[in-house]
Amino acid sequence: MTTAPIVKTSSWSPPHKAGNAEAQEAFHFSEENRAKLNQAIARYPEGRAASAVLWALYLAQDQNGGWLSEAAIVHVAEVLAMAPIRVQEVARFYTMLNTENKGRWRVQVCRTTPCWLRGSDKITAACLKAAGVSHLGEVSADGAVSVEEVECLGGCCNAPVMQINDREYYEDLSPEQAGEIVRDLRQDKLPTHSGSQTGRIASEPVGDKP
Ligand code: FES
Repeated sequence: MTTAPIVKTSSWSPPHKAGNAEAQEAFHFSEENRAKLNQAIARYPEGRAASAVLWALYLAQDQNGGWLSEAAIVHVAEVLAMAPIRVQEVARFYTMLNTENKGRWRVQVCRTTPCWLRGSDKITAACLKAAGVSHLGEVSADGAVSVEEVECLGGCCNAPVMQINDREYYEDLSPEQAGEIVRDLRQDKLPTHSGSQTGRIASEPVGDKP
């Protein structure tokens, strides 16, 4: 089995450096996101724009650097003609939506049984250490990274797995690799070598092939 190095360059777009006071004060959907939301609203009967609230919150969170400020929630409420408290109730109910700033990079380590059996506890510990934080959900002092544990990310065959910013998967991780990824993220160096970190293709058998 070969070990693939983690590539240090990236084609990812740097995350929106929001989550600061500026983002708290004002939020409006970008033209692109407003168009996406309008498409979603059009799928529902007239007067039922509130049915698109989850998609609206997802778009707002993505645009706002990974969290929903009060301004973002109020804007979503205005667009969907909802009471802000109703939008906030939805935002606070779903764990995939953040109503607090979690840093520019949100590292989610899978803790469900297959990943746990393959050492997810050690992955989490390595991520926390590299982020310089003492507990899950804490944002690193530089505002760059937070670490949380989540349930199955759907990549069990390549456990242990972690996900960054709801997008990229890193699989077959060792604690050393996880720590290196987090240290790089703190400097906004984005690993592009997502997927298996041991170099296996898809979910082919580990070790010699039959
Ligand atoms: S158990 Fe971790 S990806 Fe499924």
